Amino acid sequence: MQTLEAIETNNKSQTDFLPLQGTDYVEFYVGNARQAAHFYKAAFGFQSLAYAGPETGVKDRASYAVRQNKLTFVFTTALRTGNPIADHVYKHGDAVKVLALKVDDAASAWHETTQRGAKSYMEPVTLTDDGGKMMLSGIHTYGDTVHLFVERKNYEGVFMPGYREWKSNYNPPSTGLLYVDHCVGNVGWNQMNPWVKFYQDVMGFRNILTFDDSDISTEYSALMSKVMSNGNGFVKFPINEPAEGKKKSQVEEYLDYYNGEGCQHVALATGNIVETVTELQNRGIEFLKVPTSYYDELLDRVGHIDEDIASLKELGVLVDRDNEGYLLQIFTKPVEDRPTLFFEIIQRKGAQSFGKGNFKALFEAIEREQELRGNL
Ligand code: FE2
Repeated sequence: MQTLEAIETNNKSQTDFLPLQGTDYVEFYVGNARQAAHFYKAAFGFQSLAYAGPETGVKDRASYAVRQNKLTFVFTTALRTGNPIADHVYKHGDAVKVLALKVDDAASAWHETTQRGAKSYMEPVTLTDDGGKMMLSGIHTYGDTVHLFVERKNYEGVFMPGYREWKSNYNPPSTGLLYVDHCVGNVGWNQMNPWVKFYQDVMGFRNILTFDDSDISTEYSALMSKVMSNGNGFVKFPINEPAEGKKKSQVEEYLDYYNGEGCQHVALATGNIVETVTELQNRGIEFLKVPTSYYDELLDRVGHIDEDIASLKELGVLVDRDNEGYLLQIFTKPVEDRPTLFFEIIQRKGAQSFGKGNFKALFEAIEREQELRGNL
């Protein structure tokens, strides 16, 4: 008879055909990359890292990479109309295009996933410059979003061949954001399970949590969600689909304005949510607010927490507890004019879940915003 440990090891060796070391970077296709990069520096506390464009031999686009701790964002814009970057922005607005994943072997990642049914976005390619050599490959996921597999073990340059170091006179302090905790995809009606199956079959992920419309419904609108995680838990992709309610689901509003499936929010981890959110608010980031009555029964629901309730209430930070500990979280309003992409700021104190206890209060806050836009 196999021990539990042996079975777990066996399962791991069966499923870990795609070992991921975490998120390498998130790339956004935007209307104006220079200004977007400035916004993320000023408001979110990123630092200038690297630039690619005509001056570095890249003719069709300009890209600005910014970094904060283990978080790297890239903002890319088309220099002319009639190319896929310009088309992406026309169709979706400013949006997440690439969720890039750090791997040890980009060729193997591409072969393992495409032979399991992934549609290739980029065959393995080696890029070289003075910093060494990098290998990239990529596959399509929901909508026009893609995963790039990034192998940089033989590369010591600033970011990637094609880029040069970007030095700036403007270097605002960090806001304490550390790394990508998870990225959520919004998919169409009845498309959650097919995409769950994609992450299971093609990428070896497993479904760690499921929320149905009874977990996530308010009086008016509903959604369903399943959280997919890779083997080591470094990469987590919840997938949402709309559910029938009395009024329009927030996922439906997203799909309408995004013109299809795409990344709904990126959750950014911090080690001190009170300091981070105070700083973000001072720099102009706007957050969804729940009614102050949320805090009246908070301690009854979550038990003892280290943070001062008054500070959480003032900022609008939400708290939830699971078997392993608790988490603190807050959600920005959409960061562009379409009601599409937003960010979550999250601090985990043991809890590995996603704040189910906050869904009702949170979704009611989202609905109030939807109503203001005339989309509920
Ligand atoms: Fe989230």
